[in-house]
Amino acid sequence: MSNEPLLSVVDLGIATIQDPRTLVHDVSFHINSGEAVGVVGESGSGKTLSALSILGLLPRGVGVTNGEILFNGNDLLKLNSEDLRHIRGNEIAMIYQDPMTALNPVMKLGKQLLEVIASHDGIKANSENQVRDLLSEVGIPDVNRAMVSYAHEFSGGMRQRIMIAMALLLSPKLLIADEPTTALDVTIQQQILALVSDARKKRNMSMLWITHDLGVVANLVNRLNVMYAGRIVESGSVEEIFRMPKHPYTAGLLSSLPTSTGTNRERLTSISGVPEKPWLVGNSCGFAARCSRAQSRCHNEIPPSISTGESSVACFFPIGSYS
Ligand SMILES: Nc1ncnc2c1ncn2[C@@H]1O[C@H](COP(=O)(O)OP(=O)(O)OP(=O)(O)O)[C@@H](O)[C@H]1O
Ligand SMILES: [Mg+2]
Repeated sequence: MSNEPLLSVVDLGIATIQDPRTLVHDVSFHINSGEAVGVVGESGSGKTLSALSILGLLPRGVGVTNGEILFNGNDLLKLNSEDLRHIRGNEIAMIYQDPMTALNPVMKLGKQLLEVIASHDGIKANSENQVRDLLSEVGIPDVNRAMVSYAHEFSGGMRQRIMIAMALLLSPKLLIADEPTTALDVTIQQQILALVSDARKKRNMSMLWITHDLGVVANLVNRLNVMYAGRIVESGSVEEIFRMPKHPYTAGLLSSLPTSTGTNRERLTSISGVPEKPWLVGNSCGFAARCSRAQSRCHNEIPPSISTGESSVACFFPIGSYS
């Protein structure tokens, strides 16, 4: 076994192709084999685009401008569309907030799931059993009936479970989850998170969890990357980040987590202001305008990411420093 990470994203840049506006700047992170890693950040920080670039699925008009995406040592950005199609599903699968992104509304479920197998590995004698087993693993109550039903016949939570089954069908090494439970109510959200987490552990699968909610991923991942305005501003182990956040933005996220006091769940504080658009940040720290620690340097220079061991922070005046 090599010690090479399963996935290494190195200095990834993403921009609109025509005007061009930079949407993601020099993003680097890695996922080791069997490890779960989180990407957390507010809306528009570049989480989804970073994930879609791994699968070669960036929306039209948006492209990768620089960087490497190494999967098992191969740069996915250099693969042709046929090789990428093979990687998608077989090696890397993704689950989305809206399950209808992945499900076909006019095809019965059994047929749909079997077609996924057919288009990648070819149907085998046990393929139908494999589909049935997965549907029961994800908690679909009447599998026989589900096999001949259409996606719209299920509730939102059940559709999420079906999409998860579809993502697991080809035993991917890496599963990317892009806010799969944001649209669900809290109880169902917890059930689905537990389901994915159990399925991951059982298979020793690697995972990338994307969320705007630090509270959601805290128990699901080993390491966290905090994104702000198209950059990773802090990364480290969950324990370290929760115990001693270094970037003022991370500290703000943590202090705005709801606290449970008896039956009352209340938010402590929230970060005032709105995030800067990544392409408008220019030569400054993107968080400077909202940051209580900001000094003139923060408005005139981009803070480089400084690593110490497994953690990194991009801030001139990180919390815990002497300045
Ligand atoms: N197709 C597109 N064309 C132009 N800009 C885009 C496109 N898709 C996303 N963007 C912009 O890129 C930035 C990053 O978007 P992205 O969807 O990655 O954010 P996100 O962190 O996933 O946000 P959310 O939490 O809302 O899902 C945003 O400013 C967004 O407006
Ligand atoms: Mg998103």
